[in-house]
Amino acid sequence: MRTLIVLSSILGDNSKSTQLARHLSAHLGAEQGEVIVRDLGHTPLPYMDGSLIGALFTPQDQRVDAQHAAVAVADAAIDELKAADRVIFAVPVYNFGLPAQLKSYLDFVARAGVTFRYTAEGVPEGLVTGKEVFVVSARGGKAQGTPLDTVTPYLQTMLGFLGMTNVTFIAAEGQAMGEAAAAAGMDAARAAIDALPQTASAESRVAA
Ligand SMILES: Cc1cc2nc3c(=O)[nH]c(=O)nc-3n(C[C@H](O)[C@H](O)[C@H](O)COP(=O)(O)O)c2cc1C
Repeated sequence: MRTLIVLSSILGDNSKSTQLARHLSAHLGAEQGEVIVRDLGHTPLPYMDGSLIGALFTPQDQRVDAQHAAVAVADAAIDELKAADRVIFAVPVYNFGLPAQLKSYLDFVARAGVTFRYTAEGVPEGLVTGKEVFVVSARGGKAQGTPLDTVTPYLQTMLGFLGMTNVTFIAAEGQAMGEAAAAAGMDAARAAIDALPQTASAESRVAA
């Protein structure tokens, strides 16, 4: 069993989404198995750009050193994701969207033929399957269930496209609406985490 935690806040230890990821991690305890933390706020991937795309489209034996290096960064992120049985994404809302660092990560791990493909009928098929996924998010205002929440539907679509369809979303809202609202938002999110089964295996949760 291996759990990958993907943090993406720029606020370090003050990050509410990071605090929720830690709470979930503590809640799951030994059931997590090996835990790998990728902190995109601290160590971001570069942005997807022409040189990376160029490197990916260059046959391996024709790549120059810089292209090998660029592909290796993307390969490492993909291998790490595929090797995980459980993935916890900690997601702050910045400017009505997810952090650029997390978008960049998703750009790096979305690769045709490796993490998704199109069937002969042209239907997309995700290849990152069999994972239990959690998205713990924090936002300053309140938007859940309204058109202002662009993060939840985007992640549902994007993760689903890659094959991650067993996703539990837990959000702490109101983090910029005063102390009481912020505390209430975090309390509600922590309560939702505490209500998750603690001892069941990922497989049985997937089946449930
Ligand atoms: C640069 C920046 C932009 C933000 N934009 C929004 C926003 O569009 N909507 C919102 O509800 N909160 C917004 N907030 C508030 C954050 O969502 C809130 O601080 C949340 O706790 C961030 O998660 P984190 O603590 O894990 O970084 C923003 C905060 C920052 C720092």
